[in-house]
Amino acid sequence: MKPLIWQDDRLVLLDQTCLPAKEIYVICNDYRRVGDMIRKLGVRGAPAIGAAAAYGMVLAAQEGRHLSREAFQRWLNQAAQDLAETRPTAVNLFWALKRMSKVYPGKEPDEAIGALFAEAKKIHQEDEESCRRIGEHGVSLMKKLGRPLKILTHCNAGALATAGDGTALAVVRRAWEEGILTQVYAGETRPLLQGARLTAYELMADEIPVTLITDNMAAWMMGQGEIDAVITGADRIAANGDAANKIGTYGLAVLAHHHRIPFYIAAPCSTFDLETPNGDEILVEERAGDEVRKIGDVFISPPDVPVRNPAFDITPHRLIDGIISDLGLIEKPDEEKLKHFFEGK
Ligand code: MRU
Repeated sequence: MKPLIWQDDRLVLLDQTCLPAKEIYVICNDYRRVGDMIRKLGVRGAPAIGAAAAYGMVLAAQEGRHLSREAFQRWLNQAAQDLAETRPTAVNLFWALKRMSKVYPGKEPDEAIGALFAEAKKIHQEDEESCRRIGEHGVSLMKKLGRPLKILTHCNAGALATAGDGTALAVVRRAWEEGILTQVYAGETRPLLQGARLTAYELMADEIPVTLITDNMAAWMMGQGEIDAVITGADRIAANGDAANKIGTYGLAVLAHHHRIPFYIAAPCSTFDLETPNGDEILVEERAGDEVRKIGDVFISPPDVPVRNPAFDITPHRLIDGIISDLGLIEKPDEEKLKHFFEGK
């Protein structure tokens, strides 16, 4: 299940807004199309957004190849800015664009296209490897929990959100392979239902036992002893370990704390933003009200009721038992631990 494929000098994106009903692939010949797909969540999930934007820069370079060197540089700067404005919270987008922006200055178009493509491919392949490593580190941790596990996850942090097996779902996949997982619970993830539409679909395709619950069932399930660990992905992790992830994650962390259930975040290094000191500084995307008022095309509320629609929330680091990264586990993350962890890398 691949959210993005580079083929014949074009980016092919699986339109995740159509899942699970239809698997529709959208061919992007220009970077604006990639931007539109990121904005509308056709491609979504922090690492996948970063990789898609990187290929978007390759498309921009291909489009501008007939420009003079100076005009070409200006064109690429504008493309990077346009892509950066698509979504504000997942830092992988800005991380990838920063890497891409270091590659082309001063180069003639043809040379720049080659260099940008090589960098985009590297970002893509590195993420695949990061997922693999997260799975390895995560499964060692899961083994220490010492029993057949029932894991609750939120949103989609799987193959559809990354270039590999996923972050949280890489741990789930490895745990399943090792025979230490008996059940995954996927919270449906209102308002856009990534858990129901994507995680349930992805795990069922891999024949991993998944049970869907609505978001408001989590407390009860925990109280009934049905959940042994919670693992989610992240969109941005601040220098003190506060983590932004899909709205609802913070609530699960509070509930897990209350029920003494370990709560983990799984994320690659590209999701850490050490320049942002804490979660208060993370910009949380606020999306259109109709995403809450409607399910699909159907209004489930008065069409003009005022709504709030923050797409993410911030889980304070003190509620996180560990961050499972591609470089290893950070237990009980805080500013000191993160500083130490990255200094040693
Ligand atoms: O709005 P989305 O669907 O892009 O939000 C995605 C999430 O919040 C994921 O949990 C996160 O990006 C982790 S992806 C490995």
